[in-house]
Amino acid sequence: MSGVSRALAQVDLGAIERNCARLPKPLCAVVKADAYGHGPVAGAALRGGATWLAVATAGEARELRAQGVDAPVLVMGALTRDELRVALEAEAEVVAWTDEVAGVATRAHVKLDTGMGRLGTKDREHALRLAARPNVTGLMTHFATADEPGDDLFPAQLEAFQSFVEAVGRDDLLVHAANSAAALRDAASHFDMVRCGIAVYGMDPFHQDPAAHGLEPALSLHSWVAAVRRFEPGDSAGYGRRWTAEEPCWVATVPVGYGDGWRRGLTNDCDVLIRGRRHPVVGTVSMDNVTVALGTGTDVEVGDAVVLIGSQGEERILAEEVARRLGTISYEVTTGLLPRVRREHLR
Ligand SMILES: Cc1ncc(COP(=O)(O)O)c(C=O)c1O
Repeated sequence: MSGVSRALAQVDLGAIERNCARLPKPLCAVVKADAYGHGPVAGAALRGGATWLAVATAGEARELRAQGVDAPVLVMGALTRDELRVALEAEAEVVAWTDEVAGVATRAHVKLDTGMGRLGTKDREHALRLAARPNVTGLMTHFATADEPGDDLFPAQLEAFQSFVEAVGRDDLLVHAANSAAALRDAASHFDMVRCGIAVYGMDPFHQDPAAHGLEPALSLHSWVAAVRRFEPGDSAGYGRRWTAEEPCWVATVPVGYGDGWRRGLTNDCDVLIRGRRHPVVGTVSMDNVTVALGTGTDVEVGDAVVLIGSQGEERILAEEVARRLGTISYEVTTGLLPRVRREHLR
């Protein structure tokens, strides 16, 4: 069947550029985990006005260099000695909270843990000692609850970091703290640069509609109708008979499943778009297929395009909707798309 693909993620590079253009500057685009599942999009982020890139691992920094990216790169994750060497070979700056890493890195950003409780030193005196080193080029922290407006921790973290930055008292350092939610929520968190991931991809850090912040989802997920079959009352679809027809009806088979990252938790609990209309996925999501109820009469035909995330006609399914159904966040929905899903980057 030409013109369709069993599982295709289309990534609109123009949307990534426009999202970056809308975000505060200076902007560091966070492109870890294959750019949250979007593939090689660093060039679009840079065209949109990002001047830094951030990744979690040394391998990701090396990969950016292999793609020809020469913008400054920050490796934010914990590094073994071997990984630190790889990061340095990639001429990346690294985040440091131990004497060992701060002592070896060429350019280090000291991380104070102001309440995330994950990476960074919680010991302010230790952070102050690290920050006095001549190879230190930046100071950072990371917010735990920036996506929860009205919480107490965010302002407390901001205040603790502000006070630390003042105590360091160096004006030659790049100071940064804000993720997407903080960047959109409070200009006081911007310092010298914001570090945005989710908003770059046009998803809403507050888990609502990204359009509220002028953001455009960059990724859409597509498949096709591989079969349309008549079901009689009592006929069931998929493993375990988790859905049974109650009346004569039509069911489509769409060749995408949890082997593509379309999670089994969506069994009997998501919609897809066909011919501009929503249709429910019925029965168990299997590794390679889902089944979709078309109703008692249908014009749907084999070969029709199916949208699992994205728009068709007037209808739209956001990654945020899929995430809500799974009890997770949009980050995990796009990052969880597996390598079997072909990525196509549209200019
Ligand atoms: C240290 C750090 N900064 C910034 C970000 C970007 O966060 P977001 O995608 O919410 O903008 C992340 C992502 O998890 C992170 O780990």
